[in-house]
Amino acid sequence: MDVKIVSSQEEGAQIALKIFQDQLAKNNASVFGLATGSSPIAFYEAAVNSDIDFTKATSINLDEYVGLDGNNDQSYIYFMKSNLFDKKPFKVNYLPNGMAKDLAAETKRYDQIIDDNPIDLQILGIGRNGHIGFNEPGTPFDITTHVVDLTPSTIEANARFFENKDAVPRQAISMGIGSIMKSKKIILFAYGESKAQAIKDTIEGSVTTHVPASVLQNHNDVTVIIDQAAASLLKNK
Ligand code: F6R
Repeated sequence: MDVKIVSSQEEGAQIALKIFQDQLAKNNASVFGLATGSSPIAFYEAAVNSDIDFTKATSINLDEYVGLDGNNDQSYIYFMKSNLFDKKPFKVNYLPNGMAKDLAAETKRYDQIIDDNPIDLQILGIGRNGHIGFNEPGTPFDITTHVVDLTPSTIEANARFFENKDAVPRQAISMGIGSIMKSKKIILFAYGESKAQAIKDTIEGSVTTHVPASVLQNHNDVTVIIDQAAASLLKNK
């Protein structure tokens, strides 16, 4: 893994922007896997403020809550529109449909989308427990798109965005670790002390389903962009 320790999220965003621009220079119809959450926000801001052109590109998001539609400001479709898509149009944006009546059929539909549009470059954040997407500890490494029961720790972590803990959805649809690992390139962002242990386990720990992101050690093109606080427990810096 190529670990870049940056002094600000803006610096991290510029490193990622360059990787995106290089990818688009190779193929302006590239497929980008995108994430929500706080970690990629500085990058989306940098992209919006740049002259990067996504109009021939495709995006495929990692995940969506079950039961929230695009009008709900906590849905991931709402997040992506307000942080990126409304300001930087793509040829097409794919997200799981959290309102699908038949969730099993929705996971199949999403797998087909990923098969038809192999991801060139995937953005990831990481949970405090090492999750990527909504792939919580214990998730098999070869899983494809699936419906997830959120763990108490993830519900707790996300409660700050909702009126109260009870308003946090209990399920999500997530791209699987198997699909994430098929992406040709991966950028993982992590900022802040709360991510330090997960980053240490991911980079210097053993590859184990207890730390889903540790699987990234088996991928040959991962750039990890972290600040000093997230890097603070690393032995080799
Ligand atoms: C979001 C996602 C999650 C987040 C992770 C970190 O689409 O898939 O895995 O990346 O929970 O969230 P933040 O960045 O808010 O700390």
